[in-house]
Amino acid sequence: MLTNPGGIIAPEDVVGRDGLIASLWKSLEQQSLRISAERRIGKTTVLNKMEVEPEPGWRVSRKDLAGCRSTSEFAGVVHLQVQTFLSSFGRTLPRSRPFANGGPWKKLLEESIGDLFDARIQEKFLFLWDEVPYMLQNIQKAEGPAVMLELLDSLRALHQHHPALRVVFTGSIGLHHVLPGTTSVNHMRAEEVPLLAAEDAALLARRLLIGEEIVAADLLELSNTIAFEADNFPFYIHHIVRALKFQPQPVTVAAARRVVIEHLVHAEDPWELRHYQKRIPDYYQNNSEVVQTILDILVLSTTAMSVSDLLDQLKRRIPFDDRRKLLHILRFMSQDHYLKQQENGAYHIRFPLIGRWWKLSQGL
Ligand SMILES: Nc1ncnc2c1ncn2[C@@H]1O[C@H](COP(=O)(O)OP(=O)(O)OP(=O)(O)O)[C@@H](O)[C@H]1O
Ligand SMILES: [Mg+2]
Repeated sequence: MLTNPGGIIAPEDVVGRDGLIASLWKSLEQQSLRISAERRIGKTTVLNKMEVEPEPGWRVSRKDLAGCRSTSEFAGVVHLQVQTFLSSFGRTLPRSRPFANGGPWKKLLEESIGDLFDARIQEKFLFLWDEVPYMLQNIQKAEGPAVMLELLDSLRALHQHHPALRVVFTGSIGLHHVLPGTTSVNHMRAEEVPLLAAEDAALLARRLLIGEEIVAADLLELSNTIAFEADNFPFYIHHIVRALKFQPQPVTVAAARRVVIEHLVHAEDPWELRHYQKRIPDYYQNNSEVVQTILDILVLSTTAMSVSDLLDQLKRRIPFDDRRKLLHILRFMSQDHYLKQQENGAYHIRFPLIGRWWKLSQGL
């Protein structure tokens, strides 16, 4: 097994996702899904494995919608997905074909799904749509928010009309940023791709170290350290192991830790961590300053902080004194995986690695 950070990896090289995938298939028996998770946690990897190794009785088509800039482009993609599926059974698309070259997008969408179910094929069909929020943002910019909502409403109506319709939404932007306060996706079950379990993360590190023929002083200790330093993110594990190929052999635990620090302070930002800062103005607009200051405060704190303590600290640093607004912002920051709230109500930085990077990059 070789390192491939950011690439599509073979399904047999996907570590630690069998339980999650089994439960997603189970949920799909009931309803469509919207899957959220932090960037680089492995959403696309999960979708790809589901596409390549579907459950018996299912056919799957995965599409990355990041490049889809309009409703008619989207309807065209759906039409092609249905066409690929039906043509493998020697079937045609009599209802949607007349709209395939330039008809109204809604008609093309509705009639394509109509063709899918008119064919009465025994096998079930699953649409896997990656980067949906990104497409919705594109559509919002190009055609306006009303059209974007119309698209979601028409997908909801299609679900009501065809109870066997199954789609999965996912993407690297939180759907809540594109659709604040709408209920148009409530018919889809919300699921999360969690981080790899610590032992699976260590197993991934070990398999990569062996695959890359890295000589370790203590393979178990080294793979545990890599997983820990990477916060169990598979993406960073691939990166760390790749960098260790260029270290003097045998590789020590200290060398692995050094590699991580080098990446955190690297001017070229090879792990794309700046993303966690760059998206703040987009996500939080007028509240960006508050969000950044909350991060500054929490990365310097050794313990989780209560809302009152956070408000006190904020007041000392910036002109801000609005407890309700703070609660609202903290909830959003948790949805965006910056923070985690403990059972006693106190907040801390969700991912230590991101916290370390923030501290270094802000010179704190
Ligand atoms: N379960 C896994 N086993 C092994 N490697 C993995 C696993 N999941 C992810 N990876 C590695 O991490 C990289 C990033 O994963 P992936 O692209 O699936 O994340 P993502 O959540 O879709 O990211 P983004 O938010 O950027 O779209 C993959 O290219 C692969 O190298
Ligand atoms: Mg992805």
